This record gives sequence, C-alpha cells and structure tokens, in this order.
Amino acid sequence: MTEVLVLNGPNLGRLGSREPDVYGHLDHEGLTARVHSWASELGLHAEVRQSDDEAELVHWLHEAVDSRSDVVLNPAAFTHYSYALRDAAAQVTTGGLRLVEVHLSNPAARERFRHTSVIAGIATGTIAGFGVDSYRLALQALTAEGERPDRG
Ligand code: DQA
Repeated sequence: MTEVLVLNGPNLGRLGSREPDVYGHLDHEGLTARVHSWASELGLHAEVRQSDDEAELVHWLHEAVDSRSDVVLNPAAFTHYSYALRDAAAQVTTGGLRLVEVHLSNPAARERFRHTSVIAGIATGTIAGFGVDSYRLALQALTAEGERPDRG
C-alpha cells in the first residue's frame, strides 16, 4: 500500500479557531479524520502530522525519503521563505517520490508576500484554494497513474 505522509506547518494546529473565514471551521483533528477516510477510500495509507517547528518538518521530510513515502505538504507560512524546507522537500522529489504542495486558501489571491512559494519549484505539483478538499485532491493526484514528467 502506498504510504503518504501528510505534513502541516505552523499555525495549522489552530485550524477551526484561526481566521475561520479564510481557513474554515474544521479543526486539525477533523482534518486528520477526513484525510484518513479519503486515503483509505483511495487505497492509500496516510499519516497526518503538524508542527510549528521548521526543524521538525525538515526531519519528517528526511524520514519520508528514507521510508519511501510520498508527501502531501502544507508548509503554511514556511511556503514563502523557508529554503531549509525547500531543500528537504527537494530530496523527496529528486529521490523519485512525489510531493504535492497544498494550501487551504489560494495564496495567489491574497497578500503579495503569499504570492511567492519557494516550495513550488521542487514540488511534483500544487493544489490550492479548495479548503480541506485541497487535501482530498492531493491524495487523488497521488493515485493517478500518469507519466511522471521529467524535471529540468
Ligand atoms: C496556507 C497559506 C499560507 O500563506 C499561510 O501562511 C498558512 C496557510 C493555506 O493553507 O492556505 O498558514 O498554507
């Protein structure tokens, strides 16, 4: 069974109470339950983790490489400036695994500082703007049989 690590970055543990008009009313526990049920419907095994700590996220990405797990990553604010997270995420995709960058909101439609993703260039693909459904779409993308495009 395909193993997927679903990694959520800083402040996503506050889902439900944090800016619900932007991020919705579902809390992180609820998000985790939905991801587990979507994953099992799709024949995947998903483990969901959240951390506010950049180093912990970097270590989890190393773990994904070592355990040959695909990754769904919501890097949250680290999206916009963390080269450490980018370098760790690059090891996932250059190692032949897939990494889908996800966002609940659509950062491109928000403040200018959110328009830059330092992760997008090394991700297999990005899904943003569909609320918690972004995670379902990301899991679905990981089940697609399509040819994997070469990365330049
Ligand atoms: C986010 C978007 C980021 O800009 C923000 O810093 C987050 C959440 C999203 O899921 O929409 O914390 O990644």
